[in-house]
Amino acid sequence: MPAPAATAATAATATGRPAGYTAAQIVLHWAIAALIVIQLVLGEDMAPAWRAFRRGTDASADDLFNADIHVYIGLAVLALAAIRFGIRLVHGVPLLPAQENRWLKVLAHTVHGLLYLFMFGMPLSGVAAWYFGIAPAAEVHELAKPLIIGAVVLHAVGALYQHFVLRSDVLTRMVRPERRKAHGWVGQVSR
Ligand code: HEM
Ligand code: HEM
Repeated sequence: MPAPAATAATAATATGRPAGYTAAQIVLHWAIAALIVIQLVLGEDMAPAWRAFRRGTDASADDLFNADIHVYIGLAVLALAAIRFGIRLVHGVPLLPAQENRWLKVLAHTVHGLLYLFMFGMPLSGVAAWYFGIAPAAEVHELAKPLIIGAVVLHAVGALYQHFVLRSDVLTRMVRPERRKAHGWVGQVSR
């Protein structure tokens, strides 16, 4: 029986998909995740400045400071998500384990798609509200909060389920970058 790494490399070559993520993809994944969690936890600090903006009154220096932090972190998410999406288009992402249940794969891909939607949709709806005064965009922004939390929790539970129950390499490959060998890409496979 071939070694697991060789199997992953063969599968990657056969499908034209990489066997793992690059270091840049991994760093971007965790950096964006951390920034989004900060935004979700501290998002309500934006509310006082937004209320003042809506009423046409002056916000306090503290409220403006909190608003600046929220806006800059949010814009950083937008920029990093764009870079990440670009790398994904060029480099691709590895396939889910072949033996995985078809419906779990559909669920995983749907959640990944939703997470991309939020990575772009949240900053853009925030920009529409804050810089262009479009109030319905603020409502969308606020309503999306529980949806993002739901998607992130589902996604994290899926990753932990892969690691601890299915014992696949799905979580480790989002921690350790793939290694490039002379004859192609060789993924990190859990033993
Ligand atoms: C990944 C990026 C972002 C996330 C996850 C995020 C998340 C949040 C959260 C959780 C709230 C509090 C909602 C509540 O009151 O319960 C909020 C409020 C707000 N955010 Fe963001 N935000 C992001 C980016 C941005 C950006 C880039 C801007 C502006 C340029 C922005 C503008 C606002 C405004 C104006 C509010 C107050 C509106 C309201 O509460 O309805 N956000 N955001
Ligand atoms: C806001 C937080 C998060 C976002 C937006 C996010 C987004 C994504 C997206 C879009 C992918 C698909 C691959 C890609 O296009 O790069 C992915 C993959 C992955 N994420 Fe997350 N993620 C978040 C948090 C987490 C957390 C907390 C965990 C672990 C507990 C996690 C573990 C993974 C793993 C293991 C993969 C690889 C899945 C595979 O290879 O099929 N993510 N993430």
